[in-house]
Amino acid sequence: MNSVDVLLGLQWGDEGKGKIVDVLTPNYEVVTRFQGGPNAGHTLEFNGEKYVLRSIPSGIFQGGNINIIGNGVVLDPLLFKLEAEALAASGHDLTKRLHISKKAHLILPTHRLLDAAYEAAKGAGKIGTTGKGIGPTYTDKVSRNGVRVGDILHNFDVKYAAAKAKHEAILKSLNFEYDLTALEAEWMQGIEYLKQFNIIDSEHVINNYLKEGKSVLAEGAQGTMLDIDFGSYPFVTSSNTICAGACTGLGIAPRSIGDVFGIFKAYCTRVGSGPFPTELFDEVGDAMCTIGHEFGSVTGRKRRCGWIDLVALKYAVMINGVTQLIMMKSDVLDTFETIKCAVAYKMNGEEVTEFPYEIDDTIEPIYAELPGWKCDMTKMQSEDEFPEEFNAYVSFLEAELEVPIKIVSVGPDRDQTIIRYAE
Ligand code: GDP
Ligand code: IMO
Ligand code: MG
Repeated sequence: MNSVDVLLGLQWGDEGKGKIVDVLTPNYEVVTRFQGGPNAGHTLEFNGEKYVLRSIPSGIFQGGNINIIGNGVVLDPLLFKLEAEALAASGHDLTKRLHISKKAHLILPTHRLLDAAYEAAKGAGKIGTTGKGIGPTYTDKVSRNGVRVGDILHNFDVKYAAAKAKHEAILKSLNFEYDLTALEAEWMQGIEYLKQFNIIDSEHVINNYLKEGKSVLAEGAQGTMLDIDFGSYPFVTSSNTICAGACTGLGIAPRSIGDVFGIFKAYCTRVGSGPFPTELFDEVGDAMCTIGHEFGSVTGRKRRCGWIDLVALKYAVMINGVTQLIMMKSDVLDTFETIKCAVAYKMNGEEVTEFPYEIDDTIEPIYAELPGWKCDMTKMQSEDEFPEEFNAYVSFLEAELEVPIKIVSVGPDRDQTIIRYAE
């Protein structure tokens, strides 16, 4: 019986999961998504080309492996069609290699409208969602009103009409104005398009693969601080982004989890509303944004930037049982004189090192300061080339987090990835 390795984000998303899944894919026969939906935007760069994946696993570019959209994912057939068609046009036909769980829930056009209506109703307190209908779709799943991918194979019209009627009643009660006609027609084309893919009982398929000894990588979306249970609630997404989500989102037993790769940026970003204790509002934050091209890959929104937060990162390492760390975007800090790391929070006059129940804007981070390395890391090929100050930063983080940093990323390209051999 083989196990499933899980790769997931430890911060507020956009850590670089897509790039690393692509890098690791040659080691795996199966790559699978287990939660989230087209709110994700996973960027991959290689051979001068750039791709942004939303619902499709980032394992599709390397080798002839099997890619699965698991039951925990919410799928918008229209956005999926656009994504798959664009990939096919660039020479990546997925129909034989991509399989979709019957139990994945469908994002209906009215879910998207509800997302917009709920955000509008919240006014200044809005979450700043990606507007993809994620929250309303998971809400329907939990309240047992959802429509699943497997439903498109029989009795779809009745189930769709029942869900749509409920949604329209809510939209009416919110006085939300909309025109569904064009969107719905396009969406129905997405439903037809889905039928050419293998729609499978993914929990059986994945467990059989494990029995056969196949290696499986589970690709997380969003990040631990956006988890519905453990993130900065209510400014979170609507799924379990943590390691445990791979069990429910794929139908695998907890003992089937192998390595847990926890991925983080050498600094920190967040997109959308919600607390962010180490956020910077000065020229240092602006430099991170400019050098790191911190603009959302789905919405194009400017990402908020700040220093690395070890209080939150330690929490994420604990919740996920991280076995190996991966540090991304180290090169973005190449020109910085000093690197700061939040090692504690000052809350109500007290020093706190355990991530608290609620974080808000009154928290003052307490920083450790390390010297910057002040050199270009983007062309480095091996850890032997790392400057002393960078090694000191890595050692400091490893000592704080008590988990080894196994991979360091020094640029967006697949080739700008350094596997460390140190234990
Ligand atoms: P994901 O959602 O976790 O897959 O991350 P995103 O793709 O949304 O955001 C990560 C961004 O950083 C993308 O634009 C990547 O191309 C880019 N990126 C990834 N790794 C590195 C790196 O080491 N250095 C730099 N400069 N950019 C990187
Ligand atoms: P990847 O997989 C960064 C954020 C949104 C918003 C909150 C809720 O690319 O890392 P939702 O649409 O899920 O209801 O929005 O979560 N969010 C992300 N932020 N990266 C993501 O995905 C995100 N997916 C959702 O900005 O604050
Ligand atoms: Mg992203």
